[in-house]
Amino acid sequence: MNRDEYNRLIWISGKIVPLKDATINVLSPTAQFGANVFEGIRCYWNDTKQELYAFRLVEHYVRLQNSMKMFRMGNIYSMDELRQGLIDVIKANNYKEDIAVRQTVFIDGFGSWHSKEPVNMFIAPIPRKRLENSLDEGLRCCISSWERISDNNISPKVKVGANYINSRMAHMEAVENGYDSAILLNNHGKVAEGTGACLFIVRDGVLITPPTSASILESITRSTIIELARKELNLDVLEMEINRTDLYICDEAFLCGSAVEVKPIINIDGYTIGTGQVGEITKRIYELYLSAVYGELQGYEKWLTPIYQDVDRIEGVIT
Ligand SMILES: Cc1ncc(COP(=O)(O)O)c(C=O)c1O
Repeated sequence: MNRDEYNRLIWISGKIVPLKDATINVLSPTAQFGANVFEGIRCYWNDTKQELYAFRLVEHYVRLQNSMKMFRMGNIYSMDELRQGLIDVIKANNYKEDIAVRQTVFIDGFGSWHSKEPVNMFIAPIPRKRLENSLDEGLRCCISSWERISDNNISPKVKVGANYINSRMAHMEAVENGYDSAILLNNHGKVAEGTGACLFIVRDGVLITPPTSASILESITRSTIIELARKELNLDVLEMEINRTDLYICDEAFLCGSAVEVKPIINIDGYTIGTGQVGEITKRIYELYLSAVYGELQGYEKWLTPIYQDVDRIEGVIT
């Protein structure tokens, strides 16, 4: 269904309203101080099966509940409340195409940066066409001069809006200097992640990614790729510290995340990665990932929540 941007339907405070009527108090802690936690969830339309699949909803909601808890929010939405709002608002828009859903839990009202409540939520589905030629061009990245936030200041595990100031500084500096994006090192000088995505490298046929203790978001795409690479490609996957020089001499590198999916990197700080072309392992992981999200990879239906079907009947999808 085509709706102009301002008439798309949004779920806010338990109601489904056009975006133009979904207002937030400008004095609320979320508006003033970025007091919100959120998830970016992708849903993929399978034309043959005439079904829209939300990808790894349970894992997104576990992470969102953990973010609410760590953020000391006064109320934690249940798994069922989180899921039902998403299904209702997608159905209200009748989306039958690939979409991205922004589900944000925020501190509303007139409090300050330390307020715990009132807790409110909006759920905004946004049509998101995938780039068909996503593998055609790899990214040119730099190592950022900005350090990744760490667990003892603003934890990258909490998916809070304010964390993206760190990403913004790194991304904007990179673009200003002629790169496509940045890779951040953590407070120990080890490779952490990209500005909005996790990082993998390939060396001698082994897939390597920084551990979750390296100041990264506990990425759902990262764990998806680890599982697919081990089970479907029989690859050795190591979660280990990566130095910046490991990046310069690796054979392949790519970013991954719900938004970027799998995005190759072909140059870091002016060093050509591998042959300077998109690597074979990156290509195979990209293809596997896409077949999983569209519900075309047998054995991975457990990761999909069909929106238009009665989801409660799908055993093991929602707990
Ligand atoms: C900083 C950062 N790292 C990693 C990711 C990838 O996480 P996920 O795969 O759960 O989308 C994201 C995506 O939101 C991100 O913002």
